[in-house]
Amino acid sequence: MSNALFVVGEIGGNDYNYPFFNGGAVDEVRSFVPDVISAISLTIQELIGLGAKTLLVPNNFPIGCIPIYLTLFESNKREDYNRETGCITRLNEFAQYHNTKLLEELVKLRLLYPDVAIIYADYHKASMNIYRNPKKLGFTYPLVTCCGGKGPYNYSSNARCGRGGYSVCSNPSKYASWDGIHFTEAAYKVIAHGVLNGSYSSPPISNTCSQIVHDSVNLLHPSA
Ligand SMILES: *[C@@H]1O[C@H](CO)[C@@H](O)[C@H](O)[C@H]1NC(C)=O
Ligand SMILES: *[C@@H]1O[C@H](CO)[C@@H](O)[C@H](O)[C@H]1NC(C)=O
Repeated sequence: MSNALFVVGEIGGNDYNYPFFNGGAVDEVRSFVPDVISAISLTIQELIGLGAKTLLVPNNFPIGCIPIYLTLFESNKREDYNRETGCITRLNEFAQYHNTKLLEELVKLRLLYPDVAIIYADYHKASMNIYRNPKKLGFTYPLVTCCGGKGPYNYSSNARCGRGGYSVCSNPSKYASWDGIHFTEAAYKVIAHGVLNGSYSSPPISNTCSQIVHDSVNLLHPSA
């Protein structure tokens, strides 16, 4: 246990997806955040109780940039969207609300367990990098689904990837979203690289797990 790296999450994504996909309002779903944070915290403490010494705890993705959310929450009000990225502002704020609460909890746990490395992995910021600088990172269609159907973001509940009636783009690496919910390998590569090189992990994972990071970065061979 003491020599292993525990990746705790990300947790919460589906706890929020389910109510959001079934018509839940942001304020209602926000009320679930304390329970989700508490479940993550108890999991971390249970692992520490079993001897874990190094844990990587990822935060939640910017759901306002994800095609299924962009489609379900489509709006004709320009002010609902971030001008630079085209993402839905209040959904990203929701994700950041969870993330702020998560970080607060991790700060408490670090004080309780000073001999344990609890690393915060900022998946949110690492993926926002893609939406803010798509061209620079090699993405032509950051908000459009590669495998899907019709619609402004090529996500359609009638033609879901793998479920019939869908089509697949010819070059997935130009897209950030694979099926409207999950990222493409190209997007995960950028996120993984950013977490491993220390830009989006705090304290930097490279300080705690230098050998893992060295091997993984060599494996990734990021183009970015
Ligand atoms: C969106 O889907 C249509 C076909 O359904 C396709 O012609 C078009 O190229 C797709 N757009 C992108 C950016 O992949
Ligand atoms: C870390 O990786 C990200 C994603 O590839 C990149 O944008 C960033 O410049 C890198 N930072 C450092 C310090 O190497």
